[in-house]
Parts: sequence; structure tokens; C-alpha cells
Amino acid sequence: MVKVITYGTYDLFHYGHQRLLERAKALGDYLIVGVTADDFDKARGKINVEQSLMERIEAVRKTGLADEVIVEEYEGQKIDDIQRYDVDIFAIGSDWTGKFDYLNEYCKVVYLDRTQGVSSTDLRAERNLVRLGLVGRYTGIQKYAAESYYVNGLKVSGAFVDNAELTKKAFPEIEFIADTYDDLLEKVDAVYVVSHPSQHFEHIKKALLKKKHVLCESPIVLNVAQYDELIKLARQHGVVLMDAIKTAYSMAYNRLILLLKGGKIGRIVSVDATCTSLKDFQDSGSPDLVNKWNTICAWGPTAMLPVFQLLGPDYKNKDISSSFIDPSGQFDIFTRITFVYDHAVASIKVGKGVKSEGDLVISGTKGYVYVPAPWWKTDYFEIRFEDTNNNKRYFYQLDGEGIRYELVQFVKAIESGRQSHYILPVVSKAIVEVIEDFYAGKNLISI
Ligand code: CTP
Repeated sequence: MVKVITYGTYDLFHYGHQRLLERAKALGDYLIVGVTADDFDKARGKINVEQSLMERIEAVRKTGLADEVIVEEYEGQKIDDIQRYDVDIFAIGSDWTGKFDYLNEYCKVVYLDRTQGVSSTDLRAERNLVRLGLVGRYTGIQKYAAESYYVNGLKVSGAFVDNAELTKKAFPEIEFIADTYDDLLEKVDAVYVVSHPSQHFEHIKKALLKKKHVLCESPIVLNVAQYDELIKLARQHGVVLMDAIKTAYSMAYNRLILLLKGGKIGRIVSVDATCTSLKDFQDSGSPDLVNKWNTICAWGPTAMLPVFQLLGPDYKNKDISSSFIDPSGQFDIFTRITFVYDHAVASIKVGKGVKSEGDLVISGTKGYVYVPAPWWKTDYFEIRFEDTNNNKRYFYQLDGEGIRYELVQFVKAIESGRQSHYILPVVSKAIVEVIEDFYAGKNLISI
């Protein structure tokens, strides 16, 4: 009996897949189809897959061509499978020509002509192209414009920015630079807002009223009343309002939160997060206070993310200590906040004019988590125990600082009509509440 094996993602199963499987089957008597697991796809940079593993397996099964379906979960698995299943022929589409020649050592390798004119990527892109408008300073939108190229189903159409010339030069593909915000809203389906936090409310409200989806840098707004109003508006108009803290969408951070919620280090007693940078001060000597984000807005939401995701929004009290460089007490170069819960404590330390070790430590009754600096864009963390033999290290792929995963989730939320679950509204709201208290000087000591 001649055994043939082939692999693929088979997202949105199409004619090209069908033809490939038919020809692979015809090469022998028994066909094994390896369908890639979600994690494996992400690790190899395929971040846009729409269907779940089960749906994709089901689609392959339904063809009746596969005698056996297996899941491809790790790099190097192909050699293992070929040996384990005693495979005679490895078949794959011609887009991979040459890439699998190394398998010739184990079986015969056949490249089958790829069917022209169809691919999962094209199907995903065609389904619902979200036209995205970027709103804010050129420096803020840069990374998002660049990362959008990796995301299927999304196209940066226009921008409403402070520096039109630089934007056009950096992104020649951009269709238009809008003269007014209203102009931009007319021509897009969604906006990414990275204007100054004091402008967020106005920018978001206008967009929601026009039924445009919004992805906004955190803090979404500066007070809870405004937040409640916007959330209500988003619901009424059936559009997505999503918090853009990129860390929340990265794989390592996400898995960490899941492990901790599952009790990996016992009951969580303390969360300590530090985020600092000196960039604004190095660029110009001193920050331009009108346009620049102060520390609490620039770093506060990221540092508060693990606190509220792990301990919830119901702390008993908090104390804020800030060092300001302006007499009006608006621009903090450093802020420390301590939160006291019934059975836990948390602290965040953030700075734009002060430097510190940017790590994250989460302490529990059975062990602790250590995420090295810069923890907000990490691909790695450790869970450590009293008995160091039980320590575990976790690695996950991180591309584009998490921005491209965030954009993928934004598109998914728009398509499904459901708000993203990565940052729940209670977490966004808790962040906004802290920002509101900061500006009101509540429990704040100036140092
Ligand atoms: N394939 C093919 N003809 C196509 C598309 C895919 O023969 N038009 C083959 C691939 O070469 C591979 C298998 O089908 O052997 C599974 O491919 P997969 O990567 O799942 O499909 P794509 O459509 O190429 O997906 P994507 O656009 O996400 O890369």
C-alpha cells in the first residue's frame, strides 16, 4: 500500500485545496492530511486564520478524500509523522517548491502545481474589507500603518494627522489625507484613534454616531461618565469600541493570564508592574507639554492591565504619588500607585522621565511569575516555585509588538458583531476611573 501525506491550514476550504487533495490521493492508496493547529500557525506567522481547527478539520473530512486526518502542532513534526505512519510520498503545493527537499531522506517528495487564482488569503481579504482611518499624530500612527499590511481584511485608507507630508512619504499607498475629521469619517468603516487623550471623547463620539467602529489607545477617555456614554453609544449603534493596549493581544501575555486564572501559582496576593521610558526627554531635552502624553496616560493603562485583569476592579483603596514637571500638576514624569484589595495588593510604577527595571512580578501562595523587561512586549516568562526543579519557562512568538494581533482581533470583532473579550469593559472602565482620580488629585501626593 502506498501512503501519501500532505499538510495545510485549509482555512475557508476552497477549490485549490480540493484539487490538491484529489491529486495527492491519486498518488497512492492511503491519504493522511495534516491540519495545522492554531498555535502552530501563529508561531509561523500565519495570524489571520479565520476558522477554528475543528472547522478546518471538518472541511477536510467532508471531502471524503482523507483516510486519516492528523493535527500538525510543532516544527519538525513532518519527519516524525513520516516515520511513525510509514509514509511513502510527501505531497505539497508548488508554492513550497524546494522547501521540503530535506524530506527526501525519509520518503519521496512531490510538488503539485498550485491552482491559480484562489487562496485563503484572497478569500479572507475579499469577504469584508474594513477601510481603516488613522487619527492622531504622525508618530502615533506609524506603527499601526506598517503593521496593517500583515492583517487580512483590513486596509488603511486614509488618515487625519498632524503631518500630512510625512505620512504620505512613509505610506505612499495611503489613498487620502483628510482635511477634516468629518471628511475622514465619510470615507472609512473604522478608525484607530491615537490623538491626545483629551481629544479622545470628541473623536470617538463622532465616529460612533456615524456608526464607525473604533479602536482607541488607552485611556479611552478621561472620566467614567464619558466612558459610560461611549459604551452605551457603541451598543446602540451596533459598533465595536475597543481598547488598544497592545500587550493584551500578545500571545505570551495572554497565555500567562490564562495560566494564572487556572490557579498555577495559587491565590494571587500581589501584582507589581513597572513601565518606563525616557524617549520624549531624549528627543527634545524636555517634552512639549501640550501635545505629548503624560506618564499616567502613556504608561498607566499598560501597567494597570495585569492588575485589573487578575485582581478585578474592586480595590478598597489606592494611593497615588506623582512627580510633576509643570506647576499645574498635569504632566507627571513619574507615578506610583498602590492598590489595596481585600486579600491582595498591587502596585504600578510608571515613568517617562524616570528609568527603572520594566518587569512584572506576580506573587501567589504557591509560586510567582517573573516577566523580564520589557514585560509589555515580551515573548517569554517564567513561573518559579520554592522547589526550583518545578520552575517552568514559557516562550511564544511575538511579532510587531502585538499590534498586528490587536488589528486581527479588531477585524474579527467587527465581522462577528461581538465586542472583543481581550480587554473587558470592566477593565477599561477601571483604568479610566484611575485616570479620572489622578486628574482630580484624589489620594494623590505630589513628590
Ligand atoms: N493549494 C493549492 N492551490 C491553491 C491554494 C493552496 O494547491 N490555490 C495547496 C497548498 O499548496 C497546500 C495546500 O493547498 O499544499 C494547503 O494550503 P493552505 O496554505 O492551507 O492554503 P492557501 O490558500 O495557500 O492559504 P493561505 O492563503 O492562508 O496561505
